[in-house]
Amino acid sequence: MKKITKAVIPAAGLGTRMLPIARTVPKEVLPIVDRPVMEYLVQEAVDAGITDILIITNRGKGAIEDYFDFSPEYETALLKKGKEDIYNEIRELPKSVNIQFIRQKEAKGLGHAVNCARAFIGDEPFVVLYGDDVINAKTPVCRQMIDTYEKYGKAVAGVKRVTPEQILKYCSLGVTPLDEEKGEYDIYDMVEKPKPEEVLSNLSILGRVLLTPEIFDILDNTAPGAGNEIQLTDAMRTLAKTKGMTALEFEGKRYDMGSKLGFLMANCEYAINHDEVGEDFKAYLKEFVKTL
Ligand code: UTP
Repeated sequence: MKKITKAVIPAAGLGTRMLPIARTVPKEVLPIVDRPVMEYLVQEAVDAGITDILIITNRGKGAIEDYFDFSPEYETALLKKGKEDIYNEIRELPKSVNIQFIRQKEAKGLGHAVNCARAFIGDEPFVVLYGDDVINAKTPVCRQMIDTYEKYGKAVAGVKRVTPEQILKYCSLGVTPLDEEKGEYDIYDMVEKPKPEEVLSNLSILGRVLLTPEIFDILDNTAPGAGNEIQLTDAMRTLAKTKGMTALEFEGKRYDMGSKLGFLMANCEYAINHDEVGEDFKAYLKEFVKTL
């Protein structure tokens, strides 16, 4: 079985749920405390053993590229001031992984964005981390997905149970249990943004998938679906019905950084555990909630 070393991070969506800020600041570089969303995603992939990452961007998302570049103006100043610890910290991630960028020229959907990665991926299985989903987990979710791939040899969808209201906005999976204790299921069907009568279960794909290269030919033949976008779900449905796919109910808490509420929740929860400000912020928060 081929070792998985590549990941794709689609980050070319319009981010309309994060307007007005998304007009000038890509949602993928919004901070959780002091680091952009994208750093959490790249770090998760690196911690799972990924060595090569392709980030799909578009016009106006240059801040993502700049973040993973060296920054000589800061670095020289830090060395002059003897702040080698911060110098080493900001150089570490860009040095530890090969990151490439490609532009999706029009936001034609997540499926279309993933199809932009064909030349980078070639003939290998790969992980996709949705550019606005941060997941705080004991074991990086990418690693959990790779372990499931190595066990069953099929593409994997990272899933969670969601509320009846949420399922209508996400996708719904039809599954049969493989190992319910481990949260592993065989997928026999899936539907993007289902109507209430089309809901198959309360399991939905959230933020991470592991795909096999057959997905590219399928995407070439996938017509625009919900919202007139080329939907990755529609292509994965075909993959599940032809080659098979496994669903993994992953361990970890997911934050939807493409929504205002998700952004606020992530900042609050990461802040209370932050080395520098955690204790002070917790003390502030305890007083503040008394006033609500
Ligand atoms: P979303 O549907 O959350 O992204 O796609 P969006 O379209 O930016 O969000 P709203 O609904 O307008 O607020 C999930 C991921 O897929 C990427 C997004 O950047 C996000 O990381 N995506 C989506 C693309 O790269 N290209 C697209 O055409 C659509």
